[in-house]
Amino acid sequence: MFDFDRVIERRGTHASKWDNMKKLSGIDPSDGIPMWVADMDFAAPPGVSAALTAEVERGTHGYYADTGSWAAALVDWLARRHDLKIEPGWVSPTPGIVSGLGLILQAVSEPGDEVVVFPPAYHAFRRIIAANERRILDAQLVERQGRYVMDLDALRGRLTPRTRVVFLCSPHNPGGTVWSADELRALARLCADHDLILVSDEIHCDLVFAGARHTPTFTAAPEIADRLITCVAATKTFNLAGAHVGACVTTNPVLKKRLDARIGASGLGSYNGFGMIATEAAWRTGEAWLDALLPYLASNRDLFDARIEAAAPGARSMRLDGTYLAWVDFSGTGLAADDVAARVARRARIFASPGPQFGPGGDNWLRFNFATPRPILEQALSRLEEAFADLRTAAVRASR
Ligand SMILES: Cc1ncc(COP(=O)(O)O)c(C=O)c1O
Repeated sequence: MFDFDRVIERRGTHASKWDNMKKLSGIDPSDGIPMWVADMDFAAPPGVSAALTAEVERGTHGYYADTGSWAAALVDWLARRHDLKIEPGWVSPTPGIVSGLGLILQAVSEPGDEVVVFPPAYHAFRRIIAANERRILDAQLVERQGRYVMDLDALRGRLTPRTRVVFLCSPHNPGGTVWSADELRALARLCADHDLILVSDEIHCDLVFAGARHTPTFTAAPEIADRLITCVAATKTFNLAGAHVGACVTTNPVLKKRLDARIGASGLGSYNGFGMIATEAAWRTGEAWLDALLPYLASNRDLFDARIEAAAPGARSMRLDGTYLAWVDFSGTGLAADDVAARVARRARIFASPGPQFGPGGDNWLRFNFATPRPILEQALSRLEEAFADLRTAAVRASR
């Protein structure tokens, strides 16, 4: 019903994943394979294309009137997919999650205040904190039995009177960790004890594979709802990142008023119509597409993990419970980080995200986006096999 194997030519279409590759990595897109930014190479759900086509065919593209249907579609989606009951009045649309994070920082903290991040973590967290002249307080994740865990005792000891906000990524990017309700409750308790605002970025919440289940922070710890802001979007789930629409959700009217004041002060209270139409259509019509996408992505994950670990003996791909961003530790290969990076970029002509971008704990790791049609993934894996072929030969010799 949905052809995720279909390769769609995206070069020359303003697709950042392809058309920014040369500028950012030096790899020519005519021959290179982009596996960096979290953007999928699949066609959007048909209901999204139909809604946008109807808008285009009408031919009038004036200011968007928010009649409440967008928030209602979000409320329905969260209730259906995550058993999460929210009210439309708790929702503030923003032009994407990262801009929402910046607006939240402006609403609840001052320059010089500290914001907790759990590295390795989504790099834009660091960027938006620094751009808003706040300071990053790194709470290093620890790997235990193949998944990340938070060391909250260590974090407690490092909090200062200037620590105001915690940025949680749930599920976590990179690493695809789906946090348990207990883990979320423990973090919530720390936030309550130290009077911190908890920002739970749940943009990846729909991209969770069979066997794991996303728990919204609001569900795990309703007792801290007054200090919680949840960020959600249709854009990651349905590959509509260019739509630039997200939502900040909070039950606390004082927090919401402060956030809405920042939104208003930046002139962002009037929304991008194309983005609102596309994302509403996605929530209303995209469920069957998503249900078909998830097993496709899970097969890509399994294929990628098996072949990268065989291609580069000693490499280890963290088992993802969610997201489509393979997180690979090359330190066991015995190769230096710049050698690994050069093999991937120059021999395989693949643009993967460099681990250090995600903060401490990312050295000699690379993040690979495998949300691409299988023919492209197969080609990427063949190239990676070639790029590390000498390593396998040496491993075979050593075992004789
Ligand atoms: C955790 C996380 N938050 C936010 C974003 C980006 O959100 P937006 O494009 O809405 O700013 C991403 C994109 O990869 C992400 O991984």
